Amino acid sequence: MDKVSKVEISSAEQAKEVFESRLGEKLTSLVVSPGRINLIGEHTDYNNGFSLPSAINKYIFIGFVDKSSGGEGDSSFKAEIISIDYDESVILTEVKKQDKLWANYVVGIIDRIGQLAGGVKGNYRAIIAGNLGVGMGISSSAALCCGFAFGLNEILHTGISKEDIALVAQWTEHNYVGTKCGLLDQTANVFSQESSLIKVDFLTGEKSYYKVPFEFSIILLHSGQFHSLSESCYNERVKECRAAANLILLAAKKPLSEQVSLRDCSIEDFHKAESLLPENLLKRAKFVIEENARVGLILSKIQEKNYDEIRNIMNATHEGLSKLYEVSTERLDFLASESNKRLELAFGARLMGGGFGGCTINLVFPGKEQEFIDQMSEAFSSRFKEDLLSISVKLSPGVYSIKY
Ligand code: GLA
Repeated sequence: MDKVSKVEISSAEQAKEVFESRLGEKLTSLVVSPGRINLIGEHTDYNNGFSLPSAINKYIFIGFVDKSSGGEGDSSFKAEIISIDYDESVILTEVKKQDKLWANYVVGIIDRIGQLAGGVKGNYRAIIAGNLGVGMGISSSAALCCGFAFGLNEILHTGISKEDIALVAQWTEHNYVGTKCGLLDQTANVFSQESSLIKVDFLTGEKSYYKVPFEFSIILLHSGQFHSLSESCYNERVKECRAAANLILLAAKKPLSEQVSLRDCSIEDFHKAESLLPENLLKRAKFVIEENARVGLILSKIQEKNYDEIRNIMNATHEGLSKLYEVSTERLDFLASESNKRLELAFGARLMGGGFGGCTINLVFPGKEQEFIDQMSEAFSSRFKEDLLSISVKLSPGVYSIKY
């Protein structure tokens, strides 16, 4: 396959046209796989806690051309995968780790679906592009993994559930990339519904959908720092939380098992163990236990349209992520604090996602969007001598496909 040149693709119609002209043949299906925001509930997913995410109207598009003979029992395998954004392609005839990160995500999905389906098979071409941006903190990797799994599941008639698609994507992050992430990004990608936030309980898997009863805009402001979770302290936080949960439960004389998490620790248990915990574990546990409580609290303040309280809760999360969880950066702190100086324009700002870069999420009053972006851009560029990238997003449905 010749190298392809980069095009920014932002709609399914455009994706179909660009993909078909690049491939020189018609698509069988097109997967539209969204990024996500998270209103609150950060670093709670791998602690069996709560979050409030949603998919957004920024996407990775994956076009599939199914070339299999369709014959029962055909167990041959050939896949050609093209990334427009990376201007690269791979041809696979077996499952083998790749040196290109984007291709490794795809191979991980092929591998895992093969394990679940009793063997890797299929003969297809897939072509990928989007407008999500890598390292922006809006989960391009989950969009790629869930989207690829979704499309492959259809082509191969594997019949795996939405829950399993999320788990296949998480498995790939763990085993092919090395990020020991929770299920936040994948859940938002797979389960989101139009204009709704999902309250996810990661212990039970329960999902409840909430519509915000007033108009507002979501503006993401990018720090200019492109984070990579696997290279960061993310996995260290996962380990610290597990260690903290064990120590807290030990002090509370509660049963221990492989599965314990900070969700099993009440605030009383935490206070009992406070003097026993090393400082880093104390800070991580305090943040997670408080953050879980904030998820329910913000939902009630949203119902009451209490903008001041929503702002206070978002501030508490940012403060906790910065001082207790220690995943913020100078730029993210600056963006959150500048947003808070503009009470008439915005009613909530905090760093979003894993941290160590990425963006802040800002809740902006309707009609004030441009003024907010202009003022924040001016403040950011006078401090960091760089342009500020802003992204307006809408709560959107989860991954879906169009069949041709
Ligand atoms: C990243 C991870 C998620 C979650 C968030 C923090 O996005 O992929 O699983 O832990 O960070 O809330």
